[in-house]
Amino acid sequence: MKKILLIGNGAREHAIAKQIKASRQANGLFIFAASQNPGIKALATDYQVGDISNNSEIVDYALDNKITLAVIGPEAPLAQGIVDDLEVAGIASFGPTKKQADLEVSKAFTRDLLTEYQIPACPLYQVFATKEGLADFIMAMETDFVIKPDGLTGGKGVMVQGDHFNTKEQGIKLAEEIISAGGKLVIEEKLIGQEFSLISICDGDNLFHFPAVQDHKRAFVGDQGPNTGGMGTYSDQDFSLPFLHNNDIVEAQKINEATTKALKNKFGCGYKGVLYGGFIALKTGVKLIEYNARFGDPEAMNLLVILKNDFVDICEAVISGTLDKIIPEFEPVATVCKYVVPDGYPNNPVKDVKIDISLVDTNKVDIFYAAVDEQKNGLYLTGSRAIALVGRHQDLYEAEKIVEQEIQKIKGPIFHREDIGTRELIEKRVEMMKSIRSNN
Ligand code: AMP
Ligand code: GLY
Repeated sequence: MKKILLIGNGAREHAIAKQIKASRQANGLFIFAASQNPGIKALATDYQVGDISNNSEIVDYALDNKITLAVIGPEAPLAQGIVDDLEVAGIASFGPTKKQADLEVSKAFTRDLLTEYQIPACPLYQVFATKEGLADFIMAMETDFVIKPDGLTGGKGVMVQGDHFNTKEQGIKLAEEIISAGGKLVIEEKLIGQEFSLISICDGDNLFHFPAVQDHKRAFVGDQGPNTGGMGTYSDQDFSLPFLHNNDIVEAQKINEATTKALKNKFGCGYKGVLYGGFIALKTGVKLIEYNARFGDPEAMNLLVILKNDFVDICEAVISGTLDKIIPEFEPVATVCKYVVPDGYPNNPVKDVKIDISLVDTNKVDIFYAAVDEQKNGLYLTGSRAIALVGRHQDLYEAEKIVEQEIQKIKGPIFHREDIGTRELIEKRVEMMKSIRSNN
């Protein structure tokens, strides 16, 4: 039996907390988080609000509570080396060390790692720490391009030609500004295709692959508006996605496997934790857009509601290097996850306003709490993605209808994307891939 510490307070961590709570092995769930999450709190033995940027506060909390396993939800504590510090204190963690978390922190590190180990998953790219050669490289590119500042940017740092700037000259100016401010960046070819997430858990050598999921980053219906943390996601009953070929999934899994081997070779010890590949399916094959060192949010909700293995068994197998002994088991259903967010999100969200979720039928959907505060008279928005609902069904479009029916019962100054998981939107994606694949 384990006393488990979970770090983080989003809907992703609520999904992880439910899994830990359901484990045969958990004997106490302790939370260390930046703010309250009423959904997680209801499951917790103890809930400590503290400074998650302060490793020693977290380690002290873990020691005081005799924690035997720590599960790290978000990327920031990984990037500041919480796994290394917990290890020094004798506490095993589910998550990569600081060095290995560079896979998410530094886009330059990741691109260069894949190149060094000849993993053919990168677009044409170059890393720049000075302006030297920058304009020449961009002017010589035959495609549109993307500017990626190095470092954690909360998913908001990337600038894509056609979305954030139009001409090469404008892009050069933006890139030069980042370098003048002391930043390093990656310039890379803009890829055209459909994005999907392929998340694997690694024990250093072995991988446990989850089904593929597609996220929707834009705030509004029809993929309009600003980028967000992700407005909703879906997965399909066959664990692939309607616009993918089976080979695409196999290729993405192989890229994750090759990256794990490369990391072990480079650092002498294996990568342990979640390896979240953001991929793009192209005319032929797939390429890697980015890696994250944690579960996706919302992807974690889709994947963890259908996970049949004991999550704590998986964490233990990661720590002991025996993940090959665990056969992945998922409920063979499609899932659709949609977030409600405050009006004005993401740029100018309303805050401290009440929402009412009491009419949602929890027999029909899973509810995950994110940026909401529980006060005496109800739930209040705190400005970010608020509540996620997940529906499941053998049929993807039925799963969507279940979520849509329930999400409309949430009252308050909120909105969500009605189109995520609908036949209309998914058929557009399928058509787009068909047209890319048939183009010469
Ligand atoms: P990232 O922070 O790397 O996930 O990038 C954020 C978003 O920028 C991705 O989800 C893509 O939509 C877009 N993006 C990043 N790199 C590329 C690329 N090479 N080609 C096209 N779009 C990209
Ligand atoms: N689903 C986007 C992310 O977790 O970064």
